[in-house]
Amino acid sequence: MGKFDTLIKNGIIVTASDRYKGDIGIKDGKIEEISLKMADSDAKKVIDAEGKYVFPGGIDAHTHLDMPFGGTFSSDNFLTGTRAAAVGGTTSVIDYAIQPIGDTLENTAKIWREKADGKACIDYGIHIAVTDTKGKTLEEIPKMVQAGYSSYKVFMVYDNMRVEDDDLIKILKTASNEGAIIGVHCENYYVIKYLTEKFLKEGKIGPEYHPLSRPAVIEGEAANRAIVLSEIAKAPLMVVHSSCKESVEEIRAARAKGLPVMGETCPQYLLLSEECYHEENFGGSKYVMSPPIRNKSNWSELWRAVREGDLQTVSTDHCPFFMKQKELGINDFSKIPNGAPGIELRMPLMLTYGPKNGLSFEKIVEVTASNPAKIYGMYPKKGTIAVGSDADMFIYDPDKKMKVTVNMLHENVDYTPFEGFELSGYPVMTLSRGEVIAEDGEYTGKEGRGEFLRRGKCTVI
Ligand code: URP
Ligand code: ZN
Ligand code: ZN
Repeated sequence: MGKFDTLIKNGIIVTASDRYKGDIGIKDGKIEEISLKMADSDAKKVIDAEGKYVFPGGIDAHTHLDMPFGGTFSSDNFLTGTRAAAVGGTTSVIDYAIQPIGDTLENTAKIWREKADGKACIDYGIHIAVTDTKGKTLEEIPKMVQAGYSSYKVFMVYDNMRVEDDDLIKILKTASNEGAIIGVHCENYYVIKYLTEKFLKEGKIGPEYHPLSRPAVIEGEAANRAIVLSEIAKAPLMVVHSSCKESVEEIRAARAKGLPVMGETCPQYLLLSEECYHEENFGGSKYVMSPPIRNKSNWSELWRAVREGDLQTVSTDHCPFFMKQKELGINDFSKIPNGAPGIELRMPLMLTYGPKNGLSFEKIVEVTASNPAKIYGMYPKKGTIAVGSDADMFIYDPDKKMKVTVNMLHENVDYTPFEGFELSGYPVMTLSRGEVIAEDGEYTGKEGRGEFLRRGKCTVI
């Protein structure tokens, strides 16, 4: 009988602070021991990672699985979405439960748990998107935080989800009193409404008008407003899916003043540019997401911000829709469901394009795993490779060159915005709580094995 259930040997272990060759002994789903050399006889199962890297499992802190949007639902549910995530090296997600107008937060969480329990293949947490402060919503927040729902989201846009500034400030105040963090979708609703109506009246109905109706300056304006409100409420703030230098500048200035403000970006904003909206045959609809993909002059500023710590996390905002669903907006760009897939490719894209933009593997671990775990109350159970942590990790083969095509992916959608991207390596095995759940591009774990992450209080970093 071995001392360990599994031994991963000879891999190059990478954390946010270290990179070294070593062996990892796993027992009962946890990392039991890490040392430079262990004996094969110590373990029931031995995995040889010679020539490969061992990374902490990715944490995708921004997903929309089975989400109602614009008269339809995002096409990945908790089964298909988390299965795809696992193949791509992600071992935890935090998904957004959207409060139905008039409903309680408790019931919102229940609805999302019913979508996830028995389906999720990796561990999952839930942020609650507050859409309605009437009734007893604010009073519910303390007990919701106690129950592990320690982060909230507010949309400044979208007709049936947005809240006004006076409610935003109340949510910021109430949630922060409980040690929770509020993520804010920052865009100016009224400018979007004005520009959208104007374009449609002029017969400008195609997806290429989506980015024009939501210019970068209104993301910067809304980020500034959210930061001012958070300063007044003395509350920490996370500016989610920052897409442009205008919002990054606001986050950087706030941090320079010592305010507890953080920022997130996503691979699509680091790697895609606005020309995509001109793809023919309604192809531009693939990239209709909010905020929109920007001019490529933003790339260097976003990469710099990740490198230098102005932005703390890189998530996906995974929110896929089939092309058939995108066609809901064939005659009106404002009716195209907003969102795009990305859950499976985040780690491979970051590990290929991060180093080309000055990010070390350690920095990539920081923004894709350790920082999300720290900010959202899961560290060091998740987000690192350390004795006592959950044995969540993936083995990455730096020699497995790939070219992205939708057919190799497991996301439940008929396109990827990253079609044709070259990858300089790929995850070849993923472990979640010590169990091998994906191998050589296929999910091998049990369906529905993922557990709810009852998260602790959030931390500003
Ligand atoms: O277009 C997007 N991002 N759809 C998902 C909802 C959101 O705004 O995060
Ligand atoms: Zn958003
Ligand atoms: Zn989102």
